[in-house]
Amino acid sequence: MAEAVAEGAKTVEGVEVELSYYVPPEALSSFDAIIIGVPTYHHDMTLDIKNLFEEAAAKNIALKGKIGAAFGSYGWSGEAPKLVLEIMKNKFEMQVTESPLLVRYTPDQSALETCRALGKRVAEKLIHPS
Ligand SMILES: Cc1cc2nc3c(=O)[nH]c(=O)nc-3n(C[C@H](O)[C@H](O)[C@H](O)COP(=O)(O)O)c2cc1C
Repeated sequence: MAEAVAEGAKTVEGVEVELSYYVPPEALSSFDAIIIGVPTYHHDMTLDIKNLFEEAAAKNIALKGKIGAAFGSYGWSGEAPKLVLEIMKNKFEMQVTESPLLVRYTPDQSALETCRALGKRVAEKLIHPS
């Protein structure tokens, strides 16, 4: 899913895309948009993402105004991407315009296309903020 989101973002000219499985909290401030992929485990986001937010908050990493989006695979309840967006918006004052993108278990071709479309929309918003 993350690769498809990145692929979609890369189709937009003028946008640099970085796909990482780990980002130190300090690095977050160097991006204009942050799209987090996170599966739901035990009705929650995974600990790596929770820790990333905890550390970013503790270190007062400024993310205000940056574009935020979230996606994730899930089994039956799928809370994680929604929780991520709430934190982006309420704690870090990021711009959240996209709904959480949820895919049940393994993404099929159509789900991957939805992921590409998300990446593309976020990248276009960077080029044409409205
Ligand atoms: C221990 C465990 C707990 C899970 N808890 C939830 C849950 O609370 N809600 C949900 O929607 N899916 C839950 N799932 C399903 C996963 O979200 C689903 O398998 C997802 O596709 C995992 O993505 P990943 O392979 O990228 O880690 C759980 C799976 C496991 C193994």
